[in-house]
Amino acid sequence: MQDIQHYLRPGLLQLASLPPLSLYVHLPWCLKKCPYCDFNSHEMRQADMPEQRYLDALVADLESALPLIWGRTVHSIFLGGGTPSLFAPESIARLLSDLRARLKLSADCEITLEANPGTFEKERFRAFRDAGVTRLSVGVQSFKDGHLKSLGRVHDSAQARAALEEAARSFDTWNLDLMYALPGQTLEDLREEIAQALAFAPPHLSIYHLTIEPNTYFAKYPPQIPEDDTAYAMLDLITERTAAAGLQRYEVSAYARTNHHCRHNLNYWEYGDYLGIGAGAHGKISFAHRIVRQVRTREPRLYMERALAGNAVAQEEEVKRADLPFEYMLNALRLRQGFALGEFSERTGLAITAIARQLEEAERKGWITRDLQRVLPTERGFDFLSDLQSLFLPDPA
Ligand SMILES: C[S@@+](CC[C@H](N)C(=O)[O-])C[C@H]1O[C@@H](n2cnc3c(N)ncnc32)[C@H](O)[C@@H]1O
Ligand code: SF4
Repeated sequence: MQDIQHYLRPGLLQLASLPPLSLYVHLPWCLKKCPYCDFNSHEMRQADMPEQRYLDALVADLESALPLIWGRTVHSIFLGGGTPSLFAPESIARLLSDLRARLKLSADCEITLEANPGTFEKERFRAFRDAGVTRLSVGVQSFKDGHLKSLGRVHDSAQARAALEEAARSFDTWNLDLMYALPGQTLEDLREEIAQALAFAPPHLSIYHLTIEPNTYFAKYPPQIPEDDTAYAMLDLITERTAAAGLQRYEVSAYARTNHHCRHNLNYWEYGDYLGIGAGAHGKISFAHRIVRQVRTREPRLYMERALAGNAVAQEEEVKRADLPFEYMLNALRLRQGFALGEFSERTGLAITAIARQLEEAERKGWITRDLQRVLPTERGFDFLSDLQSLFLPDPA
């Protein structure tokens, strides 16, 4: 990491104010690697996890990064993975108190922890709440044992149900993660999945289209997944059923009851700032004259070594001015409410005229609507989201 003066020197951008700041903490271990997963997650037996050393490394990592966010309030924290719920509740309590001692948290700071039903015990979820976690995100993926098996999950559907019941009992707000377009899944299967999910009245539901990511087991040995037409019909069914249950689709894959949006994810989509600590964590930090992206060392052992030596950052670069419109749209156009024109300028330091041509083209194609204040993706824009976002790619040099 550079000397702080380096970030503050004059540059090509002029940001009138800095956006809200969040903190992402990556906990990189899982009991077993799922065949579809390309997250920075590594297999480890629970008993072998070097929890305390990892927490020491996180603290060292945070302390080295503090000068970059001096004086700023943190509005949300996300403990993601990997499987953060593998960490002992005492370790999560230590982590949160270490963070609190070093950061100014807003009074209503949202603190989410990702939990896997395979790590579920009743007391454990309550202990996470008592440690200060305000929101649990439960990775269910499916309620059918056959699908869970083909997805290589470590839990069955009975464990998933028990975990959800406890999440609902212990937390005022929580999330259920599902995936669809699974190997061998039919529309009828999905209908049942949605009904089962909605029976828990989740305040927040994330439903992701299963993607076959490069360098995963599924990329090497592709399973039979539903045709595109079926996948579209599945999405229609999801949208219809969730709406009927009073959940708003506020983002491409996220559905929430009023006041139960994930504030942390909203901050990403609104192109806010986030410091990312932990193995392989990504961060984006704005300064008056530049926006900086960072990536931490990916491999957990190496990360711990480097973080403890004050050297966790593996890559750092300034976002180029020409890349800002696309970066902004990759996030903001995922939101049903789109973005305010003033916010585009506030977050990127660019005038709205910088994207006037692209907005006109998007409007002509029926992918957005706009008024004097906001730009919103249409239904069709949501369906062609990557084409819509690509309009904002920088012109080839
Ligand atoms: C970072 S993962 C971590 C959550 C937790 N480890 C778990 O799997 O239960 C967050 C969510 O991303 C989704 N996900 C992961 N890989 C995916 C893929 N290849 N396609 C679609 N969704 C995926 C899953 O729904 C998962 O719950
Ligand atoms: S449990 Fe979650 S993070 Fe871990 S391998 Fe599976 S999908 Fe990836």
